[in-house]
Amino acid sequence: MILLTGATGYIGSHTWIELLEGSFQVVGVDNLSNSSLDRLGEVSTISKGGPIFIEGDIRDKGLLTNIFSKYPITHVIHLAGLKDVRESMVNEKQYFDVNVEGLRNLLEVMRAHNCFKIIFSSSAAVYGQSATSPISEKSIPVPTNYYGETKLDGERLLAEEFNKIPAINSVSLRYFNVAGSHPSGLLFDSVLTTSHSLFSEIAKVLIGEKSSLCIYGDDWDTKDGTCIRDYLHVVDLVKGHLAAMKLLDSSDGLFTINLGLGHGQSVRDVISSYEHVVGKKIPQCIASKRMGDVGVSFADIDSAIQLIEWRPTHSLSDMCLDSYRVLMTSVELTKSTKAIKRS
Ligand SMILES: NC(=O)c1ccc[n+]([C@@H]2O[C@H](COP(=O)([O-])OP(=O)(O)OC[C@H]3O[C@@H](n4cnc5c(N)ncnc54)[C@H](O)[C@@H]3O)[C@@H](O)[C@H]2O)c1
Repeated sequence: MILLTGATGYIGSHTWIELLEGSFQVVGVDNLSNSSLDRLGEVSTISKGGPIFIEGDIRDKGLLTNIFSKYPITHVIHLAGLKDVRESMVNEKQYFDVNVEGLRNLLEVMRAHNCFKIIFSSSAAVYGQSATSPISEKSIPVPTNYYGETKLDGERLLAEEFNKIPAINSVSLRYFNVAGSHPSGLLFDSVLTTSHSLFSEIAKVLIGEKSSLCIYGDDWDTKDGTCIRDYLHVVDLVKGHLAAMKLLDSSDGLFTINLGLGHGQSVRDVISSYEHVVGKKIPQCIASKRMGDVGVSFADIDSAIQLIEWRPTHSLSDMCLDSYRVLMTSVELTKSTKAIKRS
């Protein structure tokens, strides 16, 4: 049985569906600090499975102990965490507490219950500015924000656990920029419009929350002057977790693997792909470069190909199409909810 933390979040709910569709038994846990119980209905509808969910905090040792005592957990997929880079710079204590101490707590309870396999959601934020693209896992990590520091600390905790006897085996997956949504269009997520990602900013313009899309710098040393990033469809990302579980089932080890598309797309590439899907122009403005940004960042995915036999199959256009589909469904839903309330 798999313990999925952060189960009702953006990546968590997509992972949950994939696991249930693959007939895995899953216990989901989340404190709902950045998600809602609505996800349970959506996960259940799409996967046609009955999710087992426990509302609670990964820092609560009593809660985790109860879960491990009640269910025969063999694997943990640990996604629960805080992920806002800007917020992490002003709220270091909270980020340390959840992202680092939360993982430490989880590892202690795992060890006490003889559970020795964990997949950890790390981030490309561990690399910072120094790495040259394509960025391989061998690049020396030098995070430039506190969020990235907490992810690197998490990886270090896993390394300590691997050096103990018996070892806890782990795969740290360093995600690049995750985008898109479940192709059914039924999995709504606030991340569509609440994060500061490029996809989220485009969504804000499309639903009229913002009048134009801000492009941070158009004089980078890139083909069109805008930043280049590696965008990966959330469904591909999730499949990477299932592949990583297979690796843990066949080999002991401490693994670190990039998950990205393996090539970069400029901000203008993303905008024009989105415009093609929507069938209209997205209003834009140019702002100055943000401090700490890098011009080009994309992943070397050779380790993922070699170690877990994983390759992404979704294109940038799929990410735009699936994001737009779920955005439009949620707009329609909001309209009809308002209409029902009025009548
Ligand atoms: N989305 C991305 O592009 C991206 C990129 C790199 C890494 N990550 C990492 O992947 C993980 C999942 O990201 P996401 O995009 O799904 O974020 P998300 O915020 O949608 O999901 C995280 C979930 O964790 C829950 N949570 C937070 N603190 C908790 C706690 N103390 N106890 C229990 N639950 C708690 C939240 O309620 C939320 O549902 C995070 O650890 C994030 O740092 C995400």
